[in-house]
Amino acid sequence: MAQLWGGRFTKATDQKVYDFNASIGFDKRMLFQDICGSIAHARMLGRQGIISETDALSIEEGLKGIFRDVSEGKLKITSKYEDVHSFCEAVLTERVGEAGKRLHTGRSRNDQVALDMRLYTRGVICTCDELLNELLKSILEIMKSNTDTFMPGFTHLQKAQPVTLAHHMGAYFEMFKRDRKRLRSIYERMNECPLGSGALAGTTYPLDRDFVAESLGFDRPTSNSMDSVSDRDYLIEFLDALSIIMMHLSRSCEEIITWNTNEYRFVEIDDTYSTGSSIMPQKKNPDIAELVRGKAGRVYGSLMGLLTVMKGLPLAYNKDMQEDKEGAFDAMDTALSCIDLYSGMLKSMTFNKDIMARSALGGFTNATDAADYMVVKGVPFRDAHSYVGRMVLYCIDKKLSIDEMSLEELKKICPVIEEDFYDAVSLKTCVDKRLTKGAPGPGAMKSEIEESEKFISENAVLKDPLEAFILM
Ligand code: ARG
Repeated sequence: MAQLWGGRFTKATDQKVYDFNASIGFDKRMLFQDICGSIAHARMLGRQGIISETDALSIEEGLKGIFRDVSEGKLKITSKYEDVHSFCEAVLTERVGEAGKRLHTGRSRNDQVALDMRLYTRGVICTCDELLNELLKSILEIMKSNTDTFMPGFTHLQKAQPVTLAHHMGAYFEMFKRDRKRLRSIYERMNECPLGSGALAGTTYPLDRDFVAESLGFDRPTSNSMDSVSDRDYLIEFLDALSIIMMHLSRSCEEIITWNTNEYRFVEIDDTYSTGSSIMPQKKNPDIAELVRGKAGRVYGSLMGLLTVMKGLPLAYNKDMQEDKEGAFDAMDTALSCIDLYSGMLKSMTFNKDIMARSALGGFTNATDAADYMVVKGVPFRDAHSYVGRMVLYCIDKKLSIDEMSLEELKKICPVIEEDFYDAVSLKTCVDKRLTKGAPGPGAMKSEIEESEKFISENAVLKDPLEAFILM
């Protein structure tokens, strides 16, 4: 047990209490952020004359040494320390002596942890944005090469109207595009530096909060010290964004699982992304898609967990807030690996274009177009709807599709039908005629693809400013 706060106590902490209270087991992953924050703080203390420039320098060198040694495996972060902040300060003091003890001047672990968590989250937001951008590029490739790959569009999981694979994938492009926009807006809102807020009420030292904020790549320091040490909104927003990403991935995985069944065979998941059965030799299972679908629940759980942790907390810092970490880290690890794995699965997947097109021919996906044909010939839509309904019943009985009916059979139900009906209800016409913005028709799809390309080229991936903070 190495504690920062022993002075006021006459008895040692019970071991079970110590273990229960400690966060080192999970906050050690914020070592880099903690050290960058401490270096920025020490440089500022030196510049402001709050500590000597010599002390500031030896603190900086000491901290860099700690980071180097941990990275190289020469120094272990052990449960001897309560949290990553105590670890750094204790080891620093062992290494550089007196100066180490001056590092925490004008700082509390409350604003320190608020800073570390924000820095860590900001970095993950950037990685997430990069992964989503890669995913968007893969989806766009599939769109570009499948503008004439016909497939049924579904409602209620019943065949509805024909679309193309480009159009179907375009829907996911939009979802992940919005996810990227959400990340950017969270980033912009959260990019304020909480350091300098002290325990809750600022400090009496003449800290230069602007300097620290700028050194760490923040847009500005936060405005209210009580809010700064007790705000986890940004994390809730990010967990919310991750939950939505997981929901999008999960919906697509659900479709891939269905499309990969023996019954559909729209797609074939690559061997490298499939798994087998220990008993049934014939099996090739879509485990990765199922796991991504399943892991969505975990990420939602972290969001619910943190909302619940925060809902009853009086201002300002409360130890409950240490509970933000494990769930959030797990959600971040989970969502990032899901985006990555899903991208790989998608890229290596084969689309059985013939089977998709054949499927689009069945199930009366051209029924609406048949009604639209009659409307053009002067039949009111409601009557046309009813005629086509009768055609469908007739076809079900005779095991035909609408375009397999003879002109004579068609005319019996609706006299305005002529020879040109067959072309009007062909799969190609059904898709080609859908020309409204956002529809699967070739013209509309061309503009959608152009817009999508533009989005990618105009929206550079978010970059973590902390990458510029060199410690090695
Ligand atoms: N490990 C703590 C956390 O994650 C650090 C802050 C501790 N502050 C305190 N006043 N006990 O929240």
